[in-house]
Formats: sequence, structure tokens, C-alpha cells
Amino acid sequence: MRVLLMQDVSAAGVAELDGFELVRGSDPTGFDGVVCFLIDPVDERILATPGLRGLATVSVGLDHIDLAAADRLNIPIAYTPDVLTEATADLTFALILAAARRLGEAERYLRGGRWREWSFDLLLGTDVHGKTLAVIGSGRIGRAVARRAEGFSMRVLAVGRDRAQLEATLAEADFVAVTVPLSEETRHLIGPAELALMKPGAILVNTSRGPVVDEAALADALASGHLGGAGLDVFEHEPEVHPALLEQERAVLVPHIGSATRETRDGMAALACRGLAQILRNERPPNLANPQVWDRRSG
Ligand code: DGY
Repeated sequence: MRVLLMQDVSAAGVAELDGFELVRGSDPTGFDGVVCFLIDPVDERILATPGLRGLATVSVGLDHIDLAAADRLNIPIAYTPDVLTEATADLTFALILAAARRLGEAERYLRGGRWREWSFDLLLGTDVHGKTLAVIGSGRIGRAVARRAEGFSMRVLAVGRDRAQLEATLAEADFVAVTVPLSEETRHLIGPAELALMKPGAILVNTSRGPVVDEAALADALASGHLGGAGLDVFEHEPEVHPALLEQERAVLVPHIGSATRETRDGMAALACRGLAQILRNERPPNLANPQVWDRRSG
């Protein structure tokens, strides 16, 4: 059987596909299975490829895949839940700390040769310990961020789908961490109105998907001094970053590296590829994004 790899897959993933013919490319014609990544849009045209029996994405996010079409066309999708939870929560917390303590600015200051002498009020930031953290999204990653916050004696407010709860929590939190998946419901969940509700000096961190936050509105909230900082791992039009955000010293910006540790990326590649191998061998993988498709097929 033939498997199309839409991007290079690390050895840990390739090992799971032992016995399959692997081809790197973008045209799924003539393939039984496809391995994709979050940068590969998987539309109805790809999913309708004659003979295609399954797809695996090396990601926990599924917003690049037309799941409704996969459902209609009965294509099971394997993905990578759990395995990246801790690494992504670590990066979320790193951004909370970096934004609070102005690490990006501090490093630029030092490397730029501007540090002349120690001074009492140089690059003052804000405390993290003892503050209130709102975690928007109560999934695996949100819960793992909350666990870390407890170690910093933070008060954690978990925000689900309730609009009134979101608004009340935004007004109360010193830090807001966005961990919800992207959907039509969560696109620009944090826009001008929500940013205006946040406390003066509060810090926003986003490690979910860029379009959940209105980047232009965030840049305005930083430029006006309303927000005290931001930490962003994800952007609305990756790899582009809104030029107004790039101008904000108080924004810590990193290039979508939430799960980027060697161990986690190997775990993701292995889990996704193992899932696809199982689909192609007619075994039910534990990590199906659309289990109803499998149940219908075998029911
Ligand atoms: C995912 O898997 O969806 C992350 O954004 C990248 O690790």
C-alpha cells in the first residue's frame, strides 16, 4: 500500500509505516493513505481521492482539515491528542513568565549593547506568583496550564463556552491564556471588545491558533498601554506577523513552537503514523478525530 507524506516525517514516524511504500509529495492520486501537517490544507478534493482509505495529521489541531467532508466521504482521520499537552503547556507558561518579566525586551536590550550599569528600576515587570490567571478553554492543554499555575500560587479561573462567564473573567484576570481550538465559534473570540474588558496592565497569551485573537486589535491594546504585555506562539496568517505587533516591545513573539521539543515531536510523528498504519490494516486506532466514521464503516 502507498502512503503520501505531505511534509518530511521524522524517523520515529517513518518507523511506524514500515512495509508501506512512502512517497513525499502533494498529489494524493493513487495513494491509500496520507500523512499531513497543520500547514497542509486538506479539502474535499483531497479527501475525495479515489481509493483513499485514511489520513493522519501530525497535529492536535484539526482546523486545516475539512472534517465535514471527511465525515461525508467516510475518511477516518488519526491525529495527536495528549502527546503534546505537557510541552504546549510548558511553552504557554514560558510565555506568561517571559511577558511578565519582559524577557524579550531585556534580551534585546543586552544584546543591543545598551546595558551600561545595574539600575534599581531597569526593565521592571510584574509578579506572576499570587496573581489571577484565566484559562480560556478547559481541554487537556488548559488543564495542564492550570496545574503549572498552581505551583506559582496563582488563582486559576477556567472559562468554558459561556459568554457572560468569559466577560466576567476577562475583567478579573491579571493573565489570560487562550487554549481553545479554532472553529467558526472561536474565530476572533478575543477582539476589541474583549480586550477592552481586560484589566489595565493585564497580559494575554495565545498558544492555540492565531485567528482566535484579533491581532490588529491586540496590537492596538498594547500600543495604547491598556495591556501590559502579550505572549504569542500563533498568528492569524502564519508565517506572517501583523506589522503593528512586531512594533510592540511588550509582545513576546515566537514561531509556533508550542510542541517543539524533540521528545514531543517524535511522539507526535509516531502516534499519527501508527494511527494511519492501523487504519490501513483495518485496525481501529485509539486516536481518531472522527470515530463516528470508523463506527459507521464497521457497523
Ligand atoms: C498542533 O499540533 O496543532 C500544534 O499547534 C502544533 O504542535
